[in-house]
Amino acid sequence: MLQRVDSLNYPWSGPAPRATTELEDLGHTILRGVFSAAEVAALREEILAVYRRVPPEMRDSAITPEVGAMYRYQMFNHSERCQAAIAHPFILAAIEPLLGGDCHVIAATAWHNPPGNALTPNGLQWHVDGGPHVPRPAGIPWPDAIPYPIFVIAAHIQLQDIGLDDGPTACIPRSHRSGRVPPFEQRWDLDLQCDGRGAVLHEVAAGDVDLRVSDVWHRRWPPAADARGRLFLQVNYARRDIAQRVLPTDQLHCIAPAALARIRSDRERRLLGLHPQGYFDA
Ligand SMILES: [Fe+2]
Repeated sequence: MLQRVDSLNYPWSGPAPRATTELEDLGHTILRGVFSAAEVAALREEILAVYRRVPPEMRDSAITPEVGAMYRYQMFNHSERCQAAIAHPFILAAIEPLLGGDCHVIAATAWHNPPGNALTPNGLQWHVDGGPHVPRPAGIPWPDAIPYPIFVIAAHIQLQDIGLDDGPTACIPRSHRSGRVPPFEQRWDLDLQCDGRGAVLHEVAAGDVDLRVSDVWHRRWPPAADARGRLFLQVNYARRDIAQRVLPTDQLHCIAPAALARIRSDRERRLLGLHPQGYFDA
């Protein structure tokens, strides 16, 4: 764990939430009941309205129109409630000891997987989102005395229940410390293991937030034919240093004017990528 002082990293001092320790040790965790039923209902309605109002962007992952239609990007620009949700203090308390108190959002994407399993009968294959950040061949373990460095954390703000038949996210604990990616030839194996550990499925309720580091091995578990679908806001948070610094952030950022006008604090400014100039851009 670390703390940022004048844009530099120092060892974390003081207690950290259990979720932080789990993220560091296991690579994934679940925050239960972060959002109330009323907050979930309001956030859900606002996100579904974005789906109706904003056409799909059809980015490179949109291999079919149906796949492209599942996503809406830059959600803090489209939705005031999404902008507030990504700054929830419980989420920030869990991730800031790992990414720094100036960590920022590098992606905010709504996911709406349709019910059933016609589109993705096998779920998604085992993968990492980024990294491994210290790649190593098999047989070179990470030393226990050194916490494994974490650079990007994904949060899923869950807006409906996901049971075992709905194709939940699965993670393999401690796989982020392996320095390896999941073996390609085993990318669909449900019994894949990493250093003797197998999949842990994230069975979640609306209002939960599950978190994982970018290099933990994970996948979507295969949904059943009667799967209820999934609706969540995926937010990726990263260390502030991971960003281009060619221009100062007040000249180059991703914030729409309406979202800019909604910012209420310096932490919210930095969360959306507006930082004071530092070594690289000052
Ligand atoms: Fe992923």
